[in-house]
Amino acid sequence: MRTVAVIARKGGSGKTTLSVHLALAAHLRGRGVLLADTDAQRSSSQVLKGRRTPGPACVETSGPKLFALQLTALREGVDTMVIDTPAAMEEEISHAIVAADLALLVIRPTFLDLAAALQTAEIVRRMRKPTLIVVNQAPVTRNGVEPPAVKRALEALLLMRLPVIPIILRARAVYQSALETGRSVEEIDPQTEAAREIAELWDFVETFLFGRDAAKAAR
Ligand SMILES: Nc1ncnc2c1ncn2[C@@H]1O[C@H](COP(=O)(O)OP(=O)(O)O)[C@@H](O)[C@H]1O
Ligand SMILES: [Mg+2]
Repeated sequence: MRTVAVIARKGGSGKTTLSVHLALAAHLRGRGVLLADTDAQRSSSQVLKGRRTPGPACVETSGPKLFALQLTALREGVDTMVIDTPAAMEEEISHAIVAADLALLVIRPTFLDLAAALQTAEIVRRMRKPTLIVVNQAPVTRNGVEPPAVKRALEALLLMRLPVIPIILRARAVYQSALETGRSVEEIDPQTEAAREIAELWDFVETFLFGRDAAKAAR
């Protein structure tokens, strides 16, 4: 079993959107998935309750209970655990980070998110946890050209020496509407740009978690 924690100090950066989409991407590809919702707002479990078709298992829990949950999940044959976390100080999400094989730090390409990311990344690094940045809610490219805000953000992340996943999630209305019915953008329409982003992002994360061969075999 592999575990990915989705973290960010900022509320509204897209932790829940990303957690649910990763859990659904793994589920749609036949993996045994458990989404652990450690945010007291319970957004991701509410989203998944809105599904009309079976989806990934979801448990409302808290940081200190994650280890016990992992043991149960392992016994029950879960192979991918996704942890959604609150926008909290590091101490509060340290359980999620400890439990994870990989931490995904979600940021919007804004100055405030970048500044917060630097501090969070430093702490995760001290906890010796692999951390990758996911840029979310980026404005779309025009004729293949990155908008200045995204360019600046990518340059800043490079300066900060933070590893950024090369798949950028854009600000798209379908990310919001899909979750209203508990569905992934891939289920709404696999031909959309959003669906392609999520598929590529899941491939990247899956390869990181399980290795290239295991990820390929699962496809
Ligand atoms: N890529 C995106 N495009 C458009 N809207 C998004 C995107 N990612 C998140 N949102 C919206 O931003 C808001 C905050 O996202 P959410 O996932 O709840 O953030 P968090 O869990 O970090 O607080 C929600 O309304 C969500 O629908
Ligand atoms: Mg959330």
